[in-house]
Amino acid sequence: MNKVLVSLLLTLGITGMAHAAGDATAGQAKAAVCGACHGPDGNSPAPNFPKLAGQGERYLLKQMHDIKSGNRTVLEMTGMLDNLSEQDMADIAAYFSSQKMSIGAADPALVERGEALWRGGKLAEGMPACTGCHSPNGAGLAAAAFPRLAGQHAQYVAKQLTDFREGDRTNDGDAMIMRAIAAKLSNKDIAALSSFIQGLH
Ligand code: HEC
Ligand code: HEC
Repeated sequence: MNKVLVSLLLTLGITGMAHAAGDATAGQAKAAVCGACHGPDGNSPAPNFPKLAGQGERYLLKQMHDIKSGNRTVLEMTGMLDNLSEQDMADIAAYFSSQKMSIGAADPALVERGEALWRGGKLAEGMPACTGCHSPNGAGLAAAAFPRLAGQHAQYVAKQLTDFREGDRTNDGDAMIMRAIAAKLSNKDIAALSSFIQGLH
């Protein structure tokens, strides 16, 4: 583990909000409206809508809070979380988290570059490997709200990395972890990483 990660984990531990425990069974009914875009079990059929299935509960809840508060802009979801209570959101997060994220395919022509960046980062430029936080198999680190990436739609992943790089997504905390990392990625790097991630398992 690198120093950034350790200090981040400590910060999360100290400032982590206490949440109501989610009930996946109750969450399934409450998630019906979300299924229109994200898929009934959280495996969205459209490449621009993120898969939520198998995503860490804590990360899902953080994103819901961020989207609800406007800290992260998702126009498609405008107003959609306004009438949900903390318990509703915890239940929905528990439901999607209990499902299994499906795995897609990687473009064979992009795998080598994608995998090299994923496992090695760009040491010369001080960019750490993705594996340090998202884990070698892409499962993420649920307790720290580091998201699962393995199997996520390449188109969605590419948009997030571009948004972090351009400053259009800024909810990665005061340490600006993902903005700092994305700043080192070219468009070709992003295409290779996103394709690799979609097929990772
Ligand atoms: C009309 C389509 C639509 C509906 C309905 C919808 N979402 Fe979304 N949601 C999106 C889009 C699009 C994004 C990603 C936007 C982007 O590119 O950043 C998103 C992102 C998210 C994310 C962040 C995922 C991640 O990996 O960071 C969460 C969590 C989420 N939605 C939860 C919900 C929940 C819970 C509901 C139901 C209450 C819901 N969404 C309903 C379109 C929708
Ligand atoms: C030091 C830890 C760390 C490293 C290293 C790291 N990430 Fe992240 N990443 C995070 C955290 C934390 C978030 C969640 C930010 C938030 O709460 O919105 C995240 C979010 C993401 C997301 C958005 C996921 C979603 O569902 O919207 C993508 C895509 C991503 N990272 C890709 C990468 C890639 C590719 C690399 C390597 C080039 C990488 N990350 C390296 C910590 C890290």
